[in-house]
Amino acid sequence: MKQVEFIDKNGAFRIHNPENYSGLYLPLAGETGLKSSITPNLGGDSKTDQNHFLLEPVSIENLHNNRNTRNFWCRIEDKGCWSVCGSSAKQEAEKFTKDQDESTLEAGFMWQKLTRISKEYGVKAETTSFVTLDGAMEVMMVELTNTAEYEQKITPMAVIPVYGRSADNIRDHRHVTSLLHRIETKMYGVEVCPVLSFDERGHQKNQTTYFVYGSTGEGEAPETFYPTTEMFIGEGGSYLIPETVRTVKDGVPAGTKLQGKEAAGGMRFASVTLKPQESAAYLILAGISEDREQIEKQTAAYRTKKQVEAALETVKKHWTDKVNVDFATGDTAVDNYLKWICFQPVLRRIFGCSFLPYHDYGKGGRGWRDLWQDCLALLIMEPSVVRQMIVDNYGGVRIDGTNATIIGSRQGEFIADRNNITRVWMDHAFWPFVTTKLYLDQTGDLNILLEKVTYFKDLQAKRGTAHDNAWDHVYGNKQRTEGGNVYFGTILEHILLQNLCAFYDVGDHNEMRLHGADWNDALDMAWERGESVAFTCAYAGNLKDIAECLKHLEAETGISRIEVAEEMKYLLADGTDLYESPDKKQELLEKYTSLCAHNIKGGTILISVEQIRKNLLGKAEWLMQHIRSKEWISAEDGMGWFNGYYDNHGNAVEYSKDQDVRMMLTGQVFAIMSGTAGEEQIKAVCKSADRYLFDKKAGGYRLNTDFKEEKFDLGRMFGFAYGEKENGAVFSHMAVMYANALYQRGFVSEGHKVLQTLLDAAMNFENSKMYPGLPEYFDNDGRGLYAYLTGAASWYMLTMITEVFGVKGKLGDLVIAPSLLPEQFDEKGDAGLQLEFAGKKFHIILHNPKKQSSRDGQIRQAVCDDQIILETEPEYGVRLSKKVIETLDSGKCHRIDVVLSE
Ligand code: G1P
Repeated sequence: MKQVEFIDKNGAFRIHNPENYSGLYLPLAGETGLKSSITPNLGGDSKTDQNHFLLEPVSIENLHNNRNTRNFWCRIEDKGCWSVCGSSAKQEAEKFTKDQDESTLEAGFMWQKLTRISKEYGVKAETTSFVTLDGAMEVMMVELTNTAEYEQKITPMAVIPVYGRSADNIRDHRHVTSLLHRIETKMYGVEVCPVLSFDERGHQKNQTTYFVYGSTGEGEAPETFYPTTEMFIGEGGSYLIPETVRTVKDGVPAGTKLQGKEAAGGMRFASVTLKPQESAAYLILAGISEDREQIEKQTAAYRTKKQVEAALETVKKHWTDKVNVDFATGDTAVDNYLKWICFQPVLRRIFGCSFLPYHDYGKGGRGWRDLWQDCLALLIMEPSVVRQMIVDNYGGVRIDGTNATIIGSRQGEFIADRNNITRVWMDHAFWPFVTTKLYLDQTGDLNILLEKVTYFKDLQAKRGTAHDNAWDHVYGNKQRTEGGNVYFGTILEHILLQNLCAFYDVGDHNEMRLHGADWNDALDMAWERGESVAFTCAYAGNLKDIAECLKHLEAETGISRIEVAEEMKYLLADGTDLYESPDKKQELLEKYTSLCAHNIKGGTILISVEQIRKNLLGKAEWLMQHIRSKEWISAEDGMGWFNGYYDNHGNAVEYSKDQDVRMMLTGQVFAIMSGTAGEEQIKAVCKSADRYLFDKKAGGYRLNTDFKEEKFDLGRMFGFAYGEKENGAVFSHMAVMYANALYQRGFVSEGHKVLQTLLDAAMNFENSKMYPGLPEYFDNDGRGLYAYLTGAASWYMLTMITEVFGVKGKLGDLVIAPSLLPEQFDEKGDAGLQLEFAGKKFHIILHNPKKQSSRDGQIRQAVCDDQIILETEPEYGVRLSKKVIETLDSGKCHRIDVVLSE
């Protein structure tokens, strides 16, 4: 029997006895508000942010023994007690035995339904969980059915312990903060409103109320309440065998006020007698509210089974519609997996990197790099919101080409680092242009480059090497000129600054300095002498692409000169003497960053587009040539790869010496993607990666070989066990970017192998032990870890669309140049993709009855809506121009038939 089977075309799946696997959880959330995780035992937690946890915070390690979360008990007359989610001492003890309940979990985007059947008790419970769209509350609907052949009397009891405070208090003043709790029972539930939010730097009066409400499916209120943990579990009890459930003792009535205790939303409903096959439903609501007066009204909308069923349908439809991309690859399981991958960027936008059990990093928010990469997926799924997002995000760039790293909760809000940690991630400036380029291609909206935005300003100056002591909070977080005005520069100027400053910021080997780290956050111990060749390649690629973009700008808009801050003229210096000398480069950078360490002058200069273009191209070519000649490592058997890093001793990190082979994937990815690597070099890299990095069981291409050294002169990654996370795991994000780079350079079967192995590893449930989706990485045994919130998903989706199906924008035109392999077509030889482009819906069907590799022949014909013939691209592919797309009806889906073989 397959462990995970799909039950529709929108990713909904079914899995049996999921509680027998560790580390499984599903995200539940609203568009705003609550962010929850839920396990097959209904464990997990729920919060709105770091300081407002409804349920006690959990990380992956205490996820499986966390039983003080959602539970629903049945006391069955003459038999005993049973938990609908298996969270009872007895059920735990019987787990893995023949007496184990039969359980099945069905789940989809933001909902799950657990069905549990107990032979012993003759009961079936179906428990559906979701968060309302407005994020105000979690809804849990329990439907009990008497499966015995005789009548049974059941007394239902629900409990959701209310943690009701900041995650910081999980061990810091845990007891003291419970003394702040003010608890009140209402007609339908329990409300907890702490007096103040505990913070020794200055306590704040608290306005937030946490609640647990309940009713029967017909809307009747509970009979009695147990609003504290003490009352519910009893002396010496636990949430696995609570006293109230053992003894059915009475609690307190509505209208009771208590204080200073750990709170619980415990309640008992009137006993029911169910005939054979008869059912009864119960609804439990748990949420957080800033307006206590509204709780009664808000919960009233979910008081009956009918209301909740309708809300569930709305929730399902909402999230399913969010993923407006649909693949037909001939394998429905793959298509369903891809649905989850496309949903992952949505989840990351909501959960950031802090709020699911594996992702317990920091206190909320996302990093700069993630911000930009999540935009990639949005450009495909919700393009209309992305323009402003891009514009706002550029406001985080500093005038020295670095950027703010603390990102506020509102779009475009960047916060000065109060801790004065002057950490610079040297890859940060690379990503914005990558996203902007995709935006330009998808939309053709070159005007965005001329949009003017501010620069971020804080204490940091000179690329994290100095402080601007003249700066203070009164100055504010926007760069000013000597005249005291806030300075606005074009987005193009921001892009140029970011990439040009990086060009000069080099170390001893004339490669860009690593600073605090690059994409690999764990390469964080080579601040002084470390260099990242990997990202030197990446920036070289950017410089070349920016030049290309300027060409289009001039051609399309007629603009031949652009305005930049006068200080920037230094950055446009050129010449081999300068390029060859790390010292001269650093001197020049020092000059520039000194000039703008505090205010900038405020004057601007006009430079011809042609001049800048040539300048950028010259720099890009020099960089690539330099890397090709200095960093290539030749190994035996036609193998070879690029050295990607220098450590803090100034030594090359990668090499091939007898038995000691040190190879890292990152450097290869960016050498290939940027065009630095030549054809023959790519072949050698692929061969080496297959030999030294490939491990099918672990999901494909590892990040690096085993250095067998702690390497304190490069980063904490070498402290991680080999094969875990950034030290040599198959790290999905980099693996997918490897695939993307290979496809871009025409290495189709090599790219396909990368994508397919990742997917195969994830889909192999016996090993990966994860719900559908792409994990951040696979461990040595192939287990998928850090579910859902990985930047890999954006890249996977993007690669499938723009490279595999080859559907991409070219300055607003739609180009189709597929790279599918024969096995990616269905039995008829069709492959399909539905997506939105330029505000129009398209269903693109590739016909290939002979099942040849797409690129083996020319496209024979491509027609939109049976009438518009697509133009043929000079080399390969077809094109529907922006002009034609504009004439298409927005209300309907347009079918494009592309014939590859007949
Ligand atoms: C995570 C971070 C990403 C970082 C990467 C490697 O990747 O989110 O910014 O570059 O680790 O350190 P993700 O899980 O998003 O793929």
